[in-house]
Amino acid sequence: MLPVKCLVLAVDDFVLAFDDDLRQIGDTAVSALSRPDGSHIGIICAAPASHCDAGPKHTPENAKHTAIRIMTDVAGQPKTQGTPTIPAKPSPWRFCVAPMIDWSDRECRFFHRLLSRRARLYTEMITTGAIIHGDRARLLGYSRQEHPVAIQLGGNDPAALAQCARICADLGYDEVNLNVGCPSDRVQDGAFGACLMRQPELVGDCVAAMKAAVSIPVTVKCRIGVDDQDPEVALEELTRAVAAAGVDALIVHARKAWLQGLSPKENRDIPPLDYDRVHRLKQTWPDLPVILNGGLVSIDAAKTHLTGLDGVMLGRAAYQNPGQLLLVDPELFGEAAPVAGERDALEALLPYIDERLEAGLRLSQITRHLLGLFPGQPGARAFRRHLATHATRPGADRQVLIDAMNLVRPFPERVAAQ
Ligand SMILES: Cc1cc2nc3c(=O)[nH]c(=O)nc-3n(C[C@H](O)[C@H](O)[C@H](O)COP(=O)(O)O)c2cc1C
Repeated sequence: MLPVKCLVLAVDDFVLAFDDDLRQIGDTAVSALSRPDGSHIGIICAAPASHCDAGPKHTPENAKHTAIRIMTDVAGQPKTQGTPTIPAKPSPWRFCVAPMIDWSDRECRFFHRLLSRRARLYTEMITTGAIIHGDRARLLGYSRQEHPVAIQLGGNDPAALAQCARICADLGYDEVNLNVGCPSDRVQDGAFGACLMRQPELVGDCVAAMKAAVSIPVTVKCRIGVDDQDPEVALEELTRAVAAAGVDALIVHARKAWLQGLSPKENRDIPPLDYDRVHRLKQTWPDLPVILNGGLVSIDAAKTHLTGLDGVMLGRAAYQNPGQLLLVDPELFGEAAPVAGERDALEALLPYIDERLEAGLRLSQITRHLLGLFPGQPGARAFRRHLATHATRPGADRQVLIDAMNLVRPFPERVAAQ
């Protein structure tokens, strides 16, 4: 018998590779793919290890994710090992996509919604000044398909925040979130964002004013501290102030912000992560929904925190590898994903593209959010290059995306298995 370095499971046009570490997952997938009478829907065969080294698609992680998707389609329920129990009524914050300036705009959110019905989506931070004095239709417009969608506000004046919260609630947003984590110079000049970690009482006043103005949830996204603050004290004081004001959930980016000498980008990587601090916070405040953010690279990594916490929030990993969002509904909510794969999500995006181009948008304003699709797959680079070259041209329409999709080829293993 040939030494088996990995298993390849071929089911219709899916091919899944499982390495030794995932043997149990492989077994689970096989049994989930059995019909009630015990006959197998899939075929199991041994494959040389080289077939499994073709690219990131065949990392154990991805193989497992695809398996879970198929299991969900076939069996209706994901059957992963180590998956935290899915509560009968999951927290509304169980899985969130982070607010990201210039990234999480309405086109991005619409696309993310095609990949997960359940993810809670956050807008970019919008300042109270912009809402009160600016072009509200442009700043606050969104598609009804985006629900549940939360708006993030930047500001430090309770009256202005209350006014903006009311405007957003009237527009149908599902939540108002206050930014207490942004370290940029511009935000520091305005004395809001992360600097507010030093003024917990003022944050409490802001939350109280917004709570009095709206009936939708009011939440705060903060850091564990800034500069030389002791996170044990700083996070506790902030929590006490916002909890007293009736905050509905606290989202904690589990690292400090260093307000001098680091750019906002560096402030997302350099100050060390301290997940334990966030878990301890939840133990101290068991009735307050606490959501963890920062450095979570995959749905699997995020899932490990759901046993102690109410939710997880992914930023860069969700944006840069959006295909992962297909795992959110099956793995974290026990429901089928809205579409079978990334390609189907793009098909589903086409009518939206037509509609938005009609409204005056350029195609690239939508397609710039798609560049992280098909990681490691043959043709992915050509897909990106085609979009980068053609989507910016005047008159570019859905055909550009269709042509780009046609450049993406199946993995060689898939072809070999047919
Ligand atoms: C491009 C970009 C823009 C961001 N803009 C915001 C923002 O508007 N409001 C905010 O609270 N955080 C913002 N963040 C921080 C993220 O919400 C998140 O806290 C951070 O990226 C850490 O999470 P991650 O490691 O999952 O990316 C931004 C992050 C990125 C990458």
